[in-house]
Amino acid sequence: MNKFNTEKWTNIQTPFYYYDVDLLKQTLETAKNEADKRGYILHYATKANANPALLKLIFSAGFGADCVSGNEILRSVKCGADPKLITFAGVGKTDREIGIGLDNSIFCFNCESIPEMENIDVLAKAKHKIASIAIRINPDVDAKTHEYISTGKSENKFGISAWDFEKVIEKLEILSNLNFTGLHFHVGSQITDMSVFAEVCLRVNSFNQWFKERGFLLEHINVGGGLGIDYQNPDKNPIPDFASYFSIFEQNIKLYPGQKLHFEPGRSIVAQCGSLISKVLYVKEGKSKNFAIIDAGMSDLIRPALYKAHHHIENISSNKPYLVYDVVGPICESSDCFDKDVKLRETQRGDFIALRSAGAYGEVMASQYNLRAIPQPVYSENLQEFVP
Ligand code: LLP
Repeated sequence: MNKFNTEKWTNIQTPFYYYDVDLLKQTLETAKNEADKRGYILHYATKANANPALLKLIFSAGFGADCVSGNEILRSVKCGADPKLITFAGVGKTDREIGIGLDNSIFCFNCESIPEMENIDVLAKAKHKIASIAIRINPDVDAKTHEYISTGKSENKFGISAWDFEKVIEKLEILSNLNFTGLHFHVGSQITDMSVFAEVCLRVNSFNQWFKERGFLLEHINVGGGLGIDYQNPDKNPIPDFASYFSIFEQNIKLYPGQKLHFEPGRSIVAQCGSLISKVLYVKEGKSKNFAIIDAGMSDLIRPALYKAHHHIENISSNKPYLVYDVVGPICESSDCFDKDVKLRETQRGDFIALRSAGAYGEVMASQYNLRAIPQPVYSENLQEFVP
């Protein structure tokens, strides 16, 4: 207890997102070192957390950006990302967003369909630019994770399937403002079964060979993100095992000379450094259970309501023995429940509750449902130099 230094929070409005900056720095250093050792290139998936102060820290550590909207590209550039290290993915890129990518001469558009390739070619021609593109391949691999965050099966909307490759090649001959430079894959998120990545490698090898046999020796192979984190024991495993993760690729992927391997980690970089901090409003004794009603709700952290995701919950103000509570928010929906039958130290009004591992897909997915305020970020150390 008290890694959280709750005395400093007396005048801060709850709920808020608390970021352990030191842990983020250590995570960045570990991921970067392990990648550098193997010559791998990292594009941080901005969608996981686009907080400007954190982005500045991440890009200053030498990460590129993986963006999924024009606004993510603009913010990443503003926060110091090198456009030469920005990838742009997404099945529905608008003309405005493609224009932003072209104006910034980004590293690569990850194309998800033939009509999208045709449109990028038209827009690039109008700007007298050549757009670098990768084909996002749907490798038909089961990520063995929640169906809403699984993206690599053939029934998903993402990527181009193998049966369309011949058509892609024919099109590329005509689309003269596209430069075909890479292959892109991403099969899902919060993947904890490492055999999934080994399987991805095998599929990548055969697609890479297929294109090479047809005269395309591509500069880069991008295997996306997806590395899972330990939501059950955030203190035991604060930094994901990047060494083992990268070594699976090292052992299984076959790159041709000159080809570089790229990754797009999001959750594994930022999840463990963030906690949603809330205060207990009321403890209500039900017939068969007690409810801890807290001032954070599904509008602040939607993952439990949306995916039945588990976040470790702690009472960081109490030293009393453990009791069992359902931890719920104030919003008028039954799904506004963070977890049931949670063992918390005996809880009273005013105690601080930490919802752990909330640094990824937390703050960035917050909404104003019920016209609630968006929770503000609070940092463990002064990040003034990083606030743009
Ligand atoms: N690259 C692409 C193309 C992606 O679609 C994603 C995530 C990533 C990289 C980063 O994946 P990560 O390393 O974070 O697993 N809101 C959900 C997660 C959605 C992930 C979407 N794509 C959640 O809260 O679990």
